Amino acid sequence: MPGKAEVIIGAQWGDEGKGRVVDALADRVDLVVRYQGGANAGHTVIVGKDKYIFHLLPSGMLYTGKTCVIGNGVVVDPGQLLTELKDLQDKGKDRARLVVSGAAHVVMPYHKVLDEAEERLRGKGRKIGTTHRGIGPCYADKVNRIGIRVEDLLDAEVLRMKLRQNLELKNLYLSRVCGVDPLPFDDLFRTAFDWGKSIAPYVGDASRVVNEALDAGKGVLFEGAQGTLLDMDHGTYPYVTASTPVSAGACTGSGVSPTRIDRVLGVVKAYCTRVGEGPFPTENKGEIGERLREKGSEYGATTGRPRRCGWLDLVALRYAARVNGLTGMALTKLDVLTGLDEIQVAVGYELDGEVTEHFPGGGHRLDRVVPVYRSLPGWKEEIGGCRKVEDLPENARNYVRFLEDFSGVKALLIGVGPAREETILQGL
Ligand code: GDP
Ligand code: IMO
Ligand code: MG
Repeated sequence: MPGKAEVIIGAQWGDEGKGRVVDALADRVDLVVRYQGGANAGHTVIVGKDKYIFHLLPSGMLYTGKTCVIGNGVVVDPGQLLTELKDLQDKGKDRARLVVSGAAHVVMPYHKVLDEAEERLRGKGRKIGTTHRGIGPCYADKVNRIGIRVEDLLDAEVLRMKLRQNLELKNLYLSRVCGVDPLPFDDLFRTAFDWGKSIAPYVGDASRVVNEALDAGKGVLFEGAQGTLLDMDHGTYPYVTASTPVSAGACTGSGVSPTRIDRVLGVVKAYCTRVGEGPFPTENKGEIGERLREKGSEYGATTGRPRRCGWLDLVALRYAARVNGLTGMALTKLDVLTGLDEIQVAVGYELDGEVTEHFPGGGHRLDRVVPVYRSLPGWKEEIGGCRKVEDLPENARNYVRFLEDFSGVKALLIGVGPAREETILQGL
């Protein structure tokens, strides 16, 4: 059935508004699937006066009758998952059914200790600025084939054996290299086994659940975390996360074939932000950056860190359109640009005396580019009440059209405010 499986990805450095876009579209589908990342994500959904920030749970949890899936590609911190679930239960909002893949890897307490310790060891000039959620060390164990998976938490003997092997090495590394106290086996084992007992009712064969839903003609949204430029392969390496946020990650991270994906919607903020270290060509450390941060409330949903802000980078957007195969764009936070006399967008990079419209591979080259800007006229009218593109002021419409023409991707959803209803939908 065409048009049934849609991947929602971040087209920039994360925090584009993926949570609100998933929330806006979730009532039309049956399943919402997270396929990578972990509790480093912070996806905000605002409904009426209530604000929800999803870190591990898919952003479809508020809808009755839906199934929310945590796929094999996600790294699960069970403590965080249970806290998020309890918060929703306390509010009576845990409305969807939850399925957690047994093959997803578990973020253990030592991964978080390692994440912090390794950042400290990297020091000022080399640190990544991670979220300290244990993401990199957990994926490293997965690749090293020593990780503990969700299914292992359900079997005391398997867990004991895997944890013992792991902890021996981790404690050596922690104490000898990182100068951190070793962690006691008994406490960790008890914590992990208790987690297993609590999440057992949710553990299942996620790939089968998703594929059977597709077979039955049901709609599925794949909810990416982070963003294209934080992708381990396609992002600004080494200043990236340790997973695959690009659209292809939806397949490996949930056990679904590429032939089943119908559409890829790229979530694009109307300007750019980045949290943590790494190149950011259009970053504005002056008045404009400050203004975007304050008007856009650009503070991390997970760590509370102020986000770095700057103009929209269309070179990067075109690149994101290519590596994700975008079939549409969800343009968020257009309202944050209201009131500016003129708005700049980067349409090229000057690198070593030459101008290019292509995003250069290699993070070190990106450090040296100087953006070439195009200035577009701003608008003064508030746009929060607009529900159709035609309601937008002419200059706002022109801004959207310029983005569409440059990237070759149509804006199918436009965010004109953070609330669920502050959304313009066209052609979705
Ligand atoms: P995500 O990680 O991609 O889900 O994005 P975050 O939730 O981390 O950050 C996006 C922020 O922008 C949140 O605070 C949202 O409530 C807010 N937001 C999303 N869309 C809009 C919009 O169209 N207008 C405004 N003003 N805020 C928005
Ligand atoms: P959502 O899903 C923005 C950034 C961190 C750091 C780098 C590596 O809300 O868009 P990690 O802890 O993953 O090893 O950190 O990635 N980062 C994010 N930035 N939004 C996110 O998630 C992020 N998740 C990780 O700041 O620079
Ligand atoms: Mg976020």
